[in-house]
Amino acid sequence: MQVVISADYEEMSKAAAGVMAKVVRDKPTAVLGLATGSTPLGMYKELIRLHREEGLDFSGVTTFNLDEYVGLDGSHEQSYRYFMTENLFKDINVNIDSTNVPPGISDDFKASCAAYEEKIRDAGGIDVQVLGIGSDGHIAFNEPSSSLASRTRLKTLTQQTIDDNARFFETPEDVPVYCVTMGVGTILEAKKLILLASGAGKADAVADAVEGPVSSMCTASALQLHPDSIICLDTAAMGKLQMREYYQWVQDKRPGAPRWD
Ligand code: GLP
Repeated sequence: MQVVISADYEEMSKAAAGVMAKVVRDKPTAVLGLATGSTPLGMYKELIRLHREEGLDFSGVTTFNLDEYVGLDGSHEQSYRYFMTENLFKDINVNIDSTNVPPGISDDFKASCAAYEEKIRDAGGIDVQVLGIGSDGHIAFNEPSSSLASRTRLKTLTQQTIDDNARFFETPEDVPVYCVTMGVGTILEAKKLILLASGAGKADAVADAVEGPVSSMCTASALQLHPDSIICLDTAAMGKLQMREYYQWVQDKRPGAPRWD
């Protein structure tokens, strides 16, 4: 795992956008895995700036989002499809037909989840997957106890996640209890993973993910099993890491390190 430390949220967002932009520049037909939540907002803003000011071209890109609430269609302001349109898609030149969000409404979730997985495979797999982290250590909506081999499926949210996400809804009762989420196994198949975390509220979850045992009780810890994962943190989010001085040391030494790629 590569831990990238930034002084604050803005610097972290720019570092993450830099990773994404490189993937798109190196491969104009890249398949991007995208995430919602407040954490990636700064990264999306920077990607929009790179598109407008530096011509970063998304016209050949395909996207797959991690998750969606059950029962909300794309026109609902709290749906993740709506979030992506408002916070990224409408401001870059991605072909909207090449953007994919798991089905929040379906007559047959088993079939539509299998179809989502197949679509990812048909696209050639995900080149880089963006991830946030829940305060309980979840990635996407893979709540504690989710199988580390899980695939895209229906999940029931924990009370903690419902409480965390209630700030986006009028009342906590409006937060959907069910969701569709890529599985941990699906996420681990992406060629590169980039997890973003900001603020002291994420410090425990980050410590469990990066330095704890690999466990379904913190599904973000599955990133330890991935050969190319980047953890972008601001200083508050890294506060509970035992090895934080080492990560900083590695970062300081990186310019002089032997080249790998
Ligand atoms: C939701 C999303 C996750 C996200 C998490 C953290 O649960 N399903 O993908 O990582 O929220 O959100 P935030 O970045 O707002 O803290």
